[in-house]
Amino acid sequence: MTTDHTAHTGSAPAIIEACDLCKSYPATDGGAPAPVLRGVSLRVSPGEFVAVAGRSGSGKSTLLNVLASLTLPDSGTVLFDGQDITRVSEARRNRLRHSDFAVIFQAHHLMPYLTALENVLLPFMNGLAPVPAAMAEKGRSVLDRVGLSGKAASLPGALSGGEQQRVAIARALVRDARVLFADEPTGNLDTATGEAIMELLAELGRDGLTTVMVTHNPDYARRAHRTLIMRDGLMVDGLA
Ligand SMILES: Nc1ncnc2c1ncn2[C@@H]1O[C@H](COP(=O)(O)OP(=O)(O)O)[C@@H](O)[C@H]1O
Ligand SMILES: [Mg+2]
Repeated sequence: MTTDHTAHTGSAPAIIEACDLCKSYPATDGGAPAPVLRGVSLRVSPGEFVAVAGRSGSGKSTLLNVLASLTLPDSGTVLFDGQDITRVSEARRNRLRHSDFAVIFQAHHLMPYLTALENVLLPFMNGLAPVPAAMAEKGRSVLDRVGLSGKAASLPGALSGGEQQRVAIARALVRDARVLFADEPTGNLDTATGEAIMELLAELGRDGLTTVMVTHNPDYARRAHRTLIMRDGLMVDGLA
């Protein structure tokens, strides 16, 4: 399959633009801090589906966490819609994480005692107050979108690994996140189920969802519009 990538490159303003990101973690043995990101730059256009591939330990998860504002870099900048989100208030970063960004992980982080629909609606739940009907309706429609219309009332324990990951994706969709960050979203799944999740992400990409996905699986990375390769804290290939 060939995809027209021209819409994703060129002079369109980036939705995410990272410049010269550096980050170290303190050494556990009291030695010098270990550099994990050593000057990483990248640019993601609106609607683009970018994969970041590379071996385990190369710094992919750290990069994703910095881009998604879950952690701060030691130096460098992350522009979201042109604003440097490494230098905004904690309150603004919280808002970003709860509205503009969604993150899915290898493990799905669903609440075991809430149904699939309730897990999807979690971002809108406010104590015990009922979720507004329009939101519940939207929750059902995104469950439908990820192929789970029959499973709204199921608890996570009664769902397969792939279905659980679909619920996590639906939770990102329900609040109209503008960027989906996915860290090894197929890492816990068998090949066929992983393929199906990749197909869903590719479909969402075709619908215009901006996605940055980390994976060590080159087959999955190929499903993205563009693949960047990390090695030892550096982006070694695919810079654009
Ligand atoms: N919170 C942390 N504290 C200390 N070291 C960490 C932490 N997170 C990651 N590292 C180290 O940073 C390196 C890169 O990790 P990571 O970003 O998770 O890579 P990847 O996702 O490519 O496997 C690894 O050597 C890892 O042990
Ligand atoms: Mg990782």
